[in-house]
Amino acid sequence: MRNKTENKKLTNAGMLGYFLKGSVHLFVLCITASMIMTFLTTVIPQIIKFTIDNVIDDQPVSGLVGTIAGAFGGVERIRDDIWLIALAIMTIAAAMLICRYCSLYFNRRANETLMRRMRNELFSHIQRLPLSWQLENNTGDIIQRCTSDADNISNFVSQQLFTLVRITMLLTLSLVFMFLTDVKLAAIATAFIPVIIGYSLVYFVRVSKRFKECDEQEGVLSTIAQENLTGVRVVRAFGKERYERDKFEKQNTYYTSLWVKLLKKMALFWVSSDFIAGIQLLFIIVIGTVFCVNGGMTAGDLVAFISYNTMMIGPVRELGRIISNLSKANVALTRIGQVMNAEEEVYGINEGKISGDIVFDNVSFEYLADKPVLRGVSFTVPQGTTLGIIGGTGSGKSTVAALMDGLYAPTGGKITIGGRDINDISPATLRNNIGLVLQEGYVYSRTVGENIALAAADGSMENVKRAASVACVDEAIESFANGYDTVVGERGVTLSGGQKQRVAIARTIIRDLPYMIFDDSLSAVDSDTDAKIRAHLKTECEGTTTVIIAHRLTTVMHADNIIVLDNGEIAESGTHAELMAKDGIYKRIYDLQMDLPDELKEEARHG
Ligand SMILES: Nc1ncnc2c1ncn2[C@@H]1O[C@H](COP(=O)(O)OP(=O)(O)OP(=O)(O)O)[C@@H](O)[C@H]1O
Ligand SMILES: [Mg+2]
Repeated sequence: MRNKTENKKLTNAGMLGYFLKGSVHLFVLCITASMIMTFLTTVIPQIIKFTIDNVIDDQPVSGLVGTIAGAFGGVERIRDDIWLIALAIMTIAAAMLICRYCSLYFNRRANETLMRRMRNELFSHIQRLPLSWQLENNTGDIIQRCTSDADNISNFVSQQLFTLVRITMLLTLSLVFMFLTDVKLAAIATAFIPVIIGYSLVYFVRVSKRFKECDEQEGVLSTIAQENLTGVRVVRAFGKERYERDKFEKQNTYYTSLWVKLLKKMALFWVSSDFIAGIQLLFIIVIGTVFCVNGGMTAGDLVAFISYNTMMIGPVRELGRIISNLSKANVALTRIGQVMNAEEEVYGINEGKISGDIVFDNVSFEYLADKPVLRGVSFTVPQGTTLGIIGGTGSGKSTVAALMDGLYAPTGGKITIGGRDINDISPATLRNNIGLVLQEGYVYSRTVGENIALAAADGSMENVKRAASVACVDEAIESFANGYDTVVGERGVTLSGGQKQRVAIARTIIRDLPYMIFDDSLSAVDSDTDAKIRAHLKTECEGTTTVIIAHRLTTVMHADNIIVLDNGEIAESGTHAELMAKDGIYKRIYDLQMDLPDELKEEARHG
C-alpha cells in the first residue's frame, strides 16, 4: 500500500519504477538468461566456420580457436572424431534451451508480479479516493484504466522492453563478429540497417493510428453488446431485438473491415521489407563471393557472416514496431497516472462512538459551481429523536443525507454533531457512527447472509437473523432453498426491489450505530411492511437518532419532527399535527396521498 508520505505526484517513469518494486529482480534474471542465450546463439556460426575452414579445409588454427581445439585434442583428433563437433553444437543448443526456459519463466513471473502489484495499487488507491472523484469519472473508463491500460504497461515492460534489450544485444554481437570477419562487407551490410529500421518505423508509426482505430471500434462493439445485455428487459419489452441485432451487425461489419484493411497493410509491409532484406543478402552473397575468390575471405568466413546477418536482420525489422509502441505505453502510463495522482481522501482514525444533536446551521450546497442544490437549510435533530424529511423529487433530500454522512462538505454554513463541526470529525469516525441506507439498495453477488454482515462488527448468524427480522426480510430469506446461504445478485437469485431495500436496511441495523439515515429506503415495500419496520426500529433501536427520508407521507408522519424540502429550501417544518394545522405543502401532499376512508384519515390526522 502507498503510504501517505509517499503520496506525492509521480512522473510516468517514477510510477513505472514504483510499480516495478518486487519484480525488478525477476526481470533482471530474465534478461540475464536471455543475454546468455543470445551470446550462445552467436557462438554457433563460429563452430560452423571452424568446421569448414579448419576441419574440412586444412587451414591452420590460431588464437582462441586453436586453444579450444587443443583442449579437445587438436584439429587432427576432431577430424577423426567429427561427432565432437555435433556434441559441441548439441551442448550449446541444450544450454540455449535451458536459458530460454529460464528467460520465459522469469519473464512470465515478473509480468504476473507486476500486473498483480499494478492492479492492487490501482484498486486500493481508487478505494481511498473521494466519492466526488468516483462520480466525476466514468465507471467504464476507470475499469479500462485498471485492465487494458495496465495490460499495455506490463506488455510493454515484459515484451517490448525485454525484446528491445535482446535485439540490441544480438545486433551488437552480430555486428562485432561481422566486423571482425570482414570490415568492408560488414560496412555494406550495416548500411542497410538504418534503411530497414527507418522503413519499419515509418510504417508502424503510420499504422499505429489504424490500430488505435481498431481498438476504439472494438470498444464501441462491446459497449453495444454490454448495453444490450444489461438492458435486456427493455429490449424484450419494446420488441427491439431486430433493431439491436442490425446495430450490432453493422458495427461488427465495420470493425471487421478495419481489421481486413489493416492486415492487408501488414502483409504489404512484411513482403516489402522481405524484399529489402533480400536485396541486402544478395549484395552480401555476391560481394562476399568475390572477396572469397580473391582470397580476402575464407568460405567459412562467408557462411558465418551470412549466419550473423540472417540472425540480426529479422529482429531489426521489429525495432520499428517496438519504438512506435513506446508512445502507446506512455499514453497508458499517463492515463494510469491520472488515477494514481488523484488526491486520496484522508480517512483519519476512528475515534469511537460519538453522540449529541445533529445541527444544520444555514447550510448551502452545490455540486456544480453556481447551481445551488441546498439554500440556507437549518434544522436540529435532537439526540435520540426521529426526523422525517419529505419533498418532491430533486428537492435535495439525498443531498442532505450525503452531507450528514460527510460524503460532501457543505459549501456554505455549518453542520455540527454534538457541537463539533462535521469537517473536524474524521470520515472514519463519521462512517462508523452514521449508518446511511442509500436510495439505491445494492446487493453484491454473495450470499444474503454475507450481504447483511458486510460491515458488521459482529457478523454472527444470530446477529444477521436479528437484523433481518427487524428489517422484516427474514421470512423472505427463509423461504429461499438455501436460506441465508442463498447467493444473490447477478450470479444467483434475483431479489425484488423491496427485498433489496430491506437487505440494505438489515445491513445497517446490524451495525448498532448511534445515528441512522434511511434515504427513501422504504419506497419499494408495501405500507403494512413499512409500518412494521418502523415499529421494529422504534423498539429495537431505541436511543438511535434517526432520519427518515420518504415520498410517502405515512412513512414520516410519526417522526418527532418533519421538514418539508422544496427546491433546496425548507418550506415548512414541525410535527405532523403542526404541519396539518398550517395548511401548506404538507397538508396538500397529505390530501393527495390520503385517499383513505374517513375513520383512517382521522387516525392519520392525529399521528
Ligand atoms: N452528483 C451530482 N452532481 C450534480 N448534481 C447532482 C448530483 N446529485 C444530485 N444532483 C442534483 O441535485 C439536486 C438534488 O438531488 P437529490 O438527489 O438530493 O434530490 P432528492 O430530493 O433526493 O430527489 P429524489 O426524491 O428523486 O431522490 C437535483 O437537481 C440533482 O440533479
Ligand atoms: Mg434522493
